[in-house]
Amino acid sequence: MFRDIADIEKEAIEEIQKAQDASDLEKARIKFLGRRGIITDIMSRLPELAPEQRPLVGKQANDLKVKLITLISERQRQLKDIAQTGTKEKIDLSLPGIKEELGHKHPLISTIEQICDIFKGIGFKVVEGPEIETEYNNFTGLNIPIEHPSRDVFDTFYLKTQGQKLLLRSHTSPVQIRAMSKYKPPLAVIVPGKVYRPDAVDASHSFMFHQVEGFLVDSDVKFSHLKGVLTYFCQEMFGKDIKMRFRPHFFPFTEPSAEVDISCIICKGKGCSVCGRKGWLEILGSGMIHPNVFKHVGYDSKKYTGFAFGMGVERITMLKYGINDIRLFFDNDLRFLRQF
Ligand code: PHE
Repeated sequence: MFRDIADIEKEAIEEIQKAQDASDLEKARIKFLGRRGIITDIMSRLPELAPEQRPLVGKQANDLKVKLITLISERQRQLKDIAQTGTKEKIDLSLPGIKEELGHKHPLISTIEQICDIFKGIGFKVVEGPEIETEYNNFTGLNIPIEHPSRDVFDTFYLKTQGQKLLLRSHTSPVQIRAMSKYKPPLAVIVPGKVYRPDAVDASHSFMFHQVEGFLVDSDVKFSHLKGVLTYFCQEMFGKDIKMRFRPHFFPFTEPSAEVDISCIICKGKGCSVCGRKGWLEILGSGMIHPNVFKHVGYDSKKYTGFAFGMGVERITMLKYGINDIRLFFDNDLRFLRQF
């Protein structure tokens, strides 16, 4: 007279899972839970059972009812998902995956790393400084007089501030002031970083570019040390057969100062369009640190001497790879960048 509840459960679950659409599901619901459904039928016929059996069968039938209601609404959701995505969870495992494109270093970063590695190899430490600087660190501390043209608003990006004057540093030299104010000699530091000048952008100018600064302070540092270190650097960077030329120059923060040329790496000194037929390429500024700079950072210039140098990363990278337009570095054109 009464079917086994476990049997009914098995049959119901099977029908619910098999349902392929809402109408299949509704049929299953009516069959088991409908007004004349199997479970409803059991419930209404409980009085036919022996009194001691009624609560037990009643509970089993009710538990099954609750379970089937849950299963039906679950299957309903599943069917809806399948209808929305149009898939029946068909995953084609044989399809190739979507390849992540791996990036690589920007040529300027590679050059900066190469320069820093050469100096790290001879005991220099890498130090960085902020791109927003005080006017003091960028100019005054470096013995750059108030009348110097680079202080002009047209030659430097000043920030609108009250009180202390702030600007976008126009060279990496202010890190000399920062590092020397913080550490005592002996000191050998290399400083990579971005610098800013309000130049009109063209093939060889950009309002932002990169420099690497270096300086060394100790007792008894001589110009010959500067020459030795820079010659070592240039030979490591450009090849052992490179020739060097130190031309007298002027920087307010070094005395004496020199600009350093290397023999043209394209024509090997014979003269070509890259070196303007001169056979030489100017690659950095350098000199012995001015005693006034030492005074500003609290170093005793009778006890210590030192040298400093600064080079442009874009220029060196352009020479290294034969790139003729600085804008290529910043356009973010992957056809250019992928070549490195
Ligand atoms: N700061 C100088 C420039 O930007 C380069 C330099 C650095 C020269 C250190 C001498 C010593 O042109």
